[in-house]
Amino acid sequence: MSVQTLDNKLLIVKYLFSYFRTNFYKKTRGRIACDIFSMLYQFLAFLRFYWSAVTKYQLHSPFVFELAHAVLEDRRWYYTFRDVEQLRERMLSGDEIIEVEDFGAGRTRSQKRRSLRQIVRQAGSSARQGQRLFRLAQWLAPKTMIELGSSVGISTMYLASAVRQACFLSLEGSPQTAEVARANLSWLGLGNTEIRTGAFEQTLLPALQSLQSVDLVYLDGNHRLEPTLQYFETCLPFAGTHTVFVLDDIHWSPEMYTAWQRIRQHDQVTLSIDFFDFALAFVNPDFRVKQHWNIVPAWWKLWKFY
Ligand SMILES: C[S@@+](CC[C@H](N)C(=O)[O-])C[C@H]1O[C@@H](n2cnc3c(N)ncnc32)[C@H](O)[C@@H]1O
Repeated sequence: MSVQTLDNKLLIVKYLFSYFRTNFYKKTRGRIACDIFSMLYQFLAFLRFYWSAVTKYQLHSPFVFELAHAVLEDRRWYYTFRDVEQLRERMLSGDEIIEVEDFGAGRTRSQKRRSLRQIVRQAGSSARQGQRLFRLAQWLAPKTMIELGSSVGISTMYLASAVRQACFLSLEGSPQTAEVARANLSWLGLGNTEIRTGAFEQTLLPALQSLQSVDLVYLDGNHRLEPTLQYFETCLPFAGTHTVFVLDDIHWSPEMYTAWQRIRQHDQVTLSIDFFDFALAFVNPDFRVKQHWNIVPAWWKLWKFY
């Protein structure tokens, strides 16, 4: 091998190394640092939550007791759970790639073309969370529901099948993702749900106007402080005494936690409950004294079993 060829080969290796370092290594390192920070933050957030949490046995209000029991302790199993989880498995085992319009915050990343599998893993509600949402909706029996962030429809299917007679609008910014959600809903025969596509900033108000009043609002998209507060404020004039706001991912980032603190301190919020998986804000003026509870299942604090 001549010195010239060796020089050229070394040059290529050097080029590849610097390319890898600038384009892959640094990004990966940044992403890993971000993921580690996020995991650490969530772990500490869980400890903070757990430390101050009570079980249903420390609750005095019959309403909160019944609600906590229904969401956290009810062990009844429904065929819907099997159906939704089968659909999840099907999406996870396929290799479909779809175009995703990125709307910034949230667990999603900014690639344009993404595998369905990755979306389901990163953005979809877990089975436990979905089932808790199902039990919540079943217990509250709302007549109208609105969801901000359908993604591929996992939480949408759980909510829609809990109250099949409810009128349910789910909003999603990314058209192809919404298409997957629509297909999933139609596979389960959930005709009570309509998925509307477009940025929440454009779709939320018309959706609320068409429902006229909303009994359950599920905020699960655009996890940033100002937009979250803005969506909450937009929904408030459409809320009645029995309306509940369900906020997802409040322990996901300091920003979301601040959003939750501001919402629960809002003048119109009379009762707030944090289940860690999601949190609830009620605006019912019949709860005269403003209350807040962090609640865990009874077996998570066995020594408080009395
Ligand atoms: C966390 S995912 C929703 C997951 C879903 N609720 C579930 O549990 O299966 C959030 C979704 O909100 C959508 N989104 C975020 N910001 C948005 C915005 N400003 N307008 C419209 N859609 C948005 C994203 O495209 C994403 O699909």
